[in-house]
Amino acid sequence: MQRALVIDRNAAQIDDLGTVVVLGTGGTIAGTAASATDNVGYRAAQIGVAELLAGHDSNARLETEQIAQLDSKDMDFEVWRRLAERVAHHLGRPEVAGIVITHGTDTLEETAYFLHRIFSPTRPVVLTGAMRPASSLQADGPQNLCDAISVATTPGAAGVLVVLAATVHGGDAVRKVHPYRLDAFSSGDAGPVARVEEGTLRQLRPWPSCEAVGLHVLPLAAADWPAVEIVTSGSGARVEVVPALVATGVRGIVVAATGNGKVHRDLEAALRKARSAGTAVLRSTRCLEGPIVAGEFEAPDADALPSAGGLTPVQARIELMLRLMVAAHPARQARET
Ligand code: SIN
Repeated sequence: MQRALVIDRNAAQIDDLGTVVVLGTGGTIAGTAASATDNVGYRAAQIGVAELLAGHDSNARLETEQIAQLDSKDMDFEVWRRLAERVAHHLGRPEVAGIVITHGTDTLEETAYFLHRIFSPTRPVVLTGAMRPASSLQADGPQNLCDAISVATTPGAAGVLVVLAATVHGGDAVRKVHPYRLDAFSSGDAGPVARVEEGTLRQLRPWPSCEAVGLHVLPLAAADWPAVEIVTSGSGARVEVVPALVATGVRGIVVAATGNGKVHRDLEAALRKARSAGTAVLRSTRCLEGPIVAGEFEAPDADALPSAGGLTPVQARIELMLRLMVAAHPARQARET
């Protein structure tokens, strides 16, 4: 699946924008329906990334590479690893101005956060997708792809970014908020990083960055990635789910807490018990926007379930997986002993 293809454009057209590598993973942007008026009854991941770019006019040199071809609900750690390796490879090429990744919108925020924490790149790595299939009478994919390439070639742009509906979100903050609307993504409280207006960026906040954990922490085999699951706190929360998960071998549990990070008392007791027995726990909020705000006057509680701050439950799950990988990584362990 990793065949690289260079879109052969007129060399005279290529100015100093550099090379943009477009990595395809599938999704609705590559989907087709039987009818041009059907925007929901389609099959995702039918068209190759090279074909998606056919007819695109860019002054950058475009290369494509098909990493996977799937509906992003089926994204897995093997594809994540392969994708991360190819991103690392292309970021290592000085002529590459930026990378674009075509992706299904359903788990796009997860891949974006994963890549953000692995790389926090100094050049743009831009994920894009579409809410309507490529066969649609009014497909949104071509414009999204065009905007993503513009972002990837914008001087000074950096970080893992998500471009849909002319809006640039940070990989640190983006989440899907609507199942159908073209403008289906939000950056929550953080707000978008920029808008794309006729190929030009209007920047609204700094490029996303963090202390990257690095590709080296990822276990080679997907089966060795630490299992982390999400449980939800709410009315009548069932505590049995916690020991049941621990019995399956989970290494971490994220609780999607209510409001400002509060957990049902019985569930909290079960999570504290699991934590003291060695299962990592992270507390996020199921509120759609905003971080958990720590109380200045709260009594110190050594057993308190650690807060994930502003991370959504799905981001917190990736964060906890990566923290467990870092803790288990031999180089890290050697440094600390
Ligand atoms: C997918 O996530 O692969 C399908 C849905 C979409 O891309 O909008």
